[in-house]
Amino acid sequence: MHFAFKIHHHPCFCSPIIMARGRTLLFSVLIFVAFTQIRTLVVVAGEPQVPCYFIFGDSMVDSGNNNGLVTAAKANYPPYGIDFPQGVTGRFTNGRTIADIIGQFLGFVNYIPPYATVTNQEISTGVNYGSGTAGIRDETGSQLGDRVSYDKQLLNHAKIISRLSLLQHNVTFTQEYLKKCVYISVIGNNDYINNYLMPDNYPTSRIYTIDQYASVLAKQYSKQLTTLYKLGARKIAVFSLGLIGCTPFEIAQFGTDGRPCVESINDAVSRLNNRLKPLVDDLNNDFSDARFTFINLTSISTPPEGVTLPTQPCCQLRADGQCVPNSIPCPNRNLTIFYDGFHTTEIANTAFATRSYTALSPMDASPYDISHLAQL
Ligand SMILES: *[C@@H]1O[C@H](CO)[C@@H](O)[C@H](O)[C@H]1NC(C)=O
Ligand SMILES: *[C@@H]1O[C@H](CO)[C@@H](O)[C@H](O)[C@H]1NC(C)=O
Ligand SMILES: *[C@@H]1O[C@H](CO)[C@@H](O)[C@H](O)[C@H]1NC(C)=O
Repeated sequence: MHFAFKIHHHPCFCSPIIMARGRTLLFSVLIFVAFTQIRTLVVVAGEPQVPCYFIFGDSMVDSGNNNGLVTAAKANYPPYGIDFPQGVTGRFTNGRTIADIIGQFLGFVNYIPPYATVTNQEISTGVNYGSGTAGIRDETGSQLGDRVSYDKQLLNHAKIISRLSLLQHNVTFTQEYLKKCVYISVIGNNDYINNYLMPDNYPTSRIYTIDQYASVLAKQYSKQLTTLYKLGARKIAVFSLGLIGCTPFEIAQFGTDGRPCVESINDAVSRLNNRLKPLVDDLNNDFSDARFTFINLTSISTPPEGVTLPTQPCCQLRADGQCVPNSIPCPNRNLTIFYDGFHTTEIANTAFATRSYTALSPMDASPYDISHLAQL
């Protein structure tokens, strides 16, 4: 085994995390974020900037695809959804996900429906394929039960395209239409949390060094993104993994040795993150009409110098890091980064979505942030 950790039962992941060094300026940071969001929303009110928006990924974006699956990794019970207008939906947070908020920035009035329940009337504005515990690798997350792996999400997308072609009665039209959509891809977290870091359940840490594993994942992800391109996608935002070593669950599991986070986990994850920007550049070079862009959640979730953020989860945690069903969550959810042991609150998701959409630093998104991607 090349990795020094042993982790048990991590249900689903979520991700971008904020360095934890205290709690002083959290309030003003979040207020700033909320204002930025409101301003942006006003600007985009009206027609959506693109006709369609497709979402691929894990529990960071899942909006109910796991509800009907046999798995421990589902969030279709209170207190999940406590701040969401429709209440419990299967979202792994108190309110909106990062995908929901980006959709609002793009001007979509309704949330993009989950693949599991989407109707033909709804597919032309896009579909959400995200699934908790899903990974780049097919076996990832299997110790908790069923999930829709990234490969399976791509197969589901092919099925949706067939349905859309039938509805639109014109294959050329459908092909042109799909090129105009925005696609986001948020995957890879579970290939660590629910695979490599669980040597009792998966052999990957015995087969690969940390660096080899990152390389194998990057190769597979590159093929998958090529498939997405071949299915007609052109405007594709590829999200980095989050700082998994900063999640309350991992911190409780391993301790941090006086540091804010479990540095060895963040280091392992950064091996893959560092490969994603070159991967995006290669895809843009290989396909001249492709517009892939890299969204850097490390940059986006690291607070300004001197600002320290709390890592206490808001809800009462089950042994597996999800919320205890029907438990009463913390009242100050706008001042909390983590909702459960892995997943961020709506306010944190708002901060991540805001900077993905409109980059604050050139490091946040390259070559384009999502607002520019939409306009290309
Ligand atoms: C099919 O769509 C293309 C592209 O929008 C259009 O140019 C063409 O006229 C359409 N064909 C038919 C038969 O409507
Ligand atoms: C992502 O952001 C981090 C933190 O700002 C930075 O160290 C890293 O170089 C960035 N990665 C890329 C590919 O820009
Ligand atoms: C919390 O933030 C949301 C925006 O994410 C806002 O709509 C809500 O009013 C805020 N709640 C409080 C109590 O400040």
